[in-house]
Amino acid sequence: MSGFAVVVAADAAWGIGKDGDLAWNLPGDMAWFRKVTTGADPQGARNNVVMGRKTWDTIPDRFRPLARRHNVIVSRNRALDVGDESTLVHSLQEALEVPCSGERFVIGGGMLYAEALEHPDCEVLYITHVDGDFDCDTRMPAPGPGFVVAHEEEPVSESGITYRITTWRRR
Ligand SMILES: NC(=O)c1ccc[n+]([C@@H]2O[C@H](COP(=O)([O-])OP(=O)(O)OC[C@H]3O[C@@H](n4cnc5c(N)ncnc54)[C@H](OP(=O)(O)O)[C@@H]3O)[C@@H](O)[C@H]2O)c1
Repeated sequence: MSGFAVVVAADAAWGIGKDGDLAWNLPGDMAWFRKVTTGADPQGARNNVVMGRKTWDTIPDRFRPLARRHNVIVSRNRALDVGDESTLVHSLQEALEVPCSGERFVIGGGMLYAEALEHPDCEVLYITHVDGDFDCDTRMPAPGPGFVVAHEEEPVSESGITYRITTWRRR
């Protein structure tokens, strides 16, 4: 298995969600998420997006599985019905071993991010830093000293919220 990336939006306190949902509505960041996870491979390679069962539950029926990506859902529940197009697995490691014709992304939530950041094959973090503290009930760990910011976009403001898209890589 080759390396994988994490994609996340986090506030200043590394908060990522509240009441089972995102704590903000940032269409520009959602568009970025869609673009980076879908990719644009002319050969038609499909990326795998790995998510915890609670994150899967947050996606409205009409948007799931996430289009043009192979959705891989991690749950302890072996009877969970994720439909014919998606794959159910029971650990992060198993999720990362699901065959993939493109790239692999871990897309949340807090439990999966915590495990992913500790994984030796986690190579890239795409972190959208959202200014402010949104009083989130779900957080991710701050990346350890093994990761360094490699690229930082200019700040963007939407609906009074400012955010910056960054790319972190392993040292
Ligand atoms: N800001 C962002 O970029 C972003 C992205 C995604 C999600 N979120 C937010 O994050 C929150 C959800 O995160 P969360 O931490 O509560 O849940 P989560 O990580 O999405 O899912 C947790 C579930 O995944 C399964 N799971 C996790 N680790 C496992 C393991 N090692 N083995 C087997 N199963 C495992 C379990 O499912 P079972 O209970 O079925 O066994 C567990 O209850 C929501 O508020 C969501 O909106 C934010």
